[in-house]
Amino acid sequence: MIDLLLKGATLPDGRQGMDIACSGGRIAEVASGITGEAAQVVEAKGYLVSPPFIDAHFHMDATLSLGMPRLNNSGTLLEGIAVWGELKPLLTHEAVIERALRYCDLAVSQGLLAIRTHVDVCDDRLLCVEALLEVRKTVAPYIDLQIVAFPQDGFYRSPTARANLLRALDMGVDVVGGIPHGERTMADGAASLKELCEIAAARGLLVDIHCDESDDPWSRHVEALAYETQRLGLQGRVVGSHLTSMHSMDNYYASKLIGLIAESGMHATPNPLINITLQGRHDTYPKRRGMTRVPELRSAGVNVSFGHDCVMDPWYPLGQGDMLEAASMGLHVGLMTSPEAMRWAFDAVTVNPARALHLEGYGLEKGCNADFVLLQAKNPVEAIRLKANRLKVVRRGEVIAETPERVAALRLPGRPEAVNGADYAPAATSQKTRP
Ligand code: FE2
Repeated sequence: MIDLLLKGATLPDGRQGMDIACSGGRIAEVASGITGEAAQVVEAKGYLVSPPFIDAHFHMDATLSLGMPRLNNSGTLLEGIAVWGELKPLLTHEAVIERALRYCDLAVSQGLLAIRTHVDVCDDRLLCVEALLEVRKTVAPYIDLQIVAFPQDGFYRSPTARANLLRALDMGVDVVGGIPHGERTMADGAASLKELCEIAAARGLLVDIHCDESDDPWSRHVEALAYETQRLGLQGRVVGSHLTSMHSMDNYYASKLIGLIAESGMHATPNPLINITLQGRHDTYPKRRGMTRVPELRSAGVNVSFGHDCVMDPWYPLGQGDMLEAASMGLHVGLMTSPEAMRWAFDAVTVNPARALHLEGYGLEKGCNADFVLLQAKNPVEAIRLKANRLKVVRRGEVIAETPERVAALRLPGRPEAVNGADYAPAATSQKTRP
């Protein structure tokens, strides 16, 4: 018996007229012309079906706190950290949970069903850790939430961060985080990476480091992170997040560094929406873009994902949990407008972060979890262009969110009435040719 049968969809690889049959929460078959009785049938009408969006880098403890207790007036990373520091003593368990759940609701409506969030452990109460562990349990039926122990004020620079990080891991936090550029010296930053990677190796955990989120070309902790990754045999288990100093580095050094990153098997997670606004704030003109070297990392074989990082918090006043927006900004900032690179940007918010997060059962093949999103677009690039409507969001074979198909009815003077669907553009008309 089929629980849900999606009929007539286009797959991300371009195959058209495809059906997906779901049984017992898994994908039972992907083929054209699947027959058999189904409890629910969804007609895809040729639209694109994709595995769910994934956000490889987020801060759920701070989300939707914009203006609390005040706005970030300079727009810099450092003032954002200061504002967050002012809010931290005022946080309550209930308020953190309420904001996080509100964001998770938004995420589901956007087809965003897996999120790696960092949680600040530089608060001796570990209030945000307790809150997000509770949120992880609450949302488990519909969102895979991974939590990273993140010492926002510095693993060594904050006197209790080390003890708090270890306590957070003991409480069940999934991933080891760090912020080497926030330590007092380059030497302390490198030492923090050594110890954090050793903690992860000893506990069998993954690593995700805020690494060189700076415009300083001499902030070179990425090199140390790549070194520790290969030294400890953590290939494939470590993510370098942000990596913005690479934008400002000397080209020769960057060419060496990218080779070291590739050799170490590190993943990279730039956050284009955030870093295009946070970085370059000390520049006059030209202003640096503040995104790491995505095309070059790709070319070297590094697995790159785009993260959202923030939504309406001290660091970023916009956002709506739409990973297509992150993909769009990423390809713009990276000057990646070839058809191949734009298509790749869709992978950077779907299959690439699935690898970085070590998600199991992700994909649209037989046997995978029956999780997918039906988008009002004909292909991945059109989905990015339109920030396409999420017509259906399916989790374990059940529709958990839906949005009506968006159609514009045009009544223009001197023109025939028209109805336009996916791209909201005037219907194609034949080109008039001159006699
Ligand atoms: Fe971040």
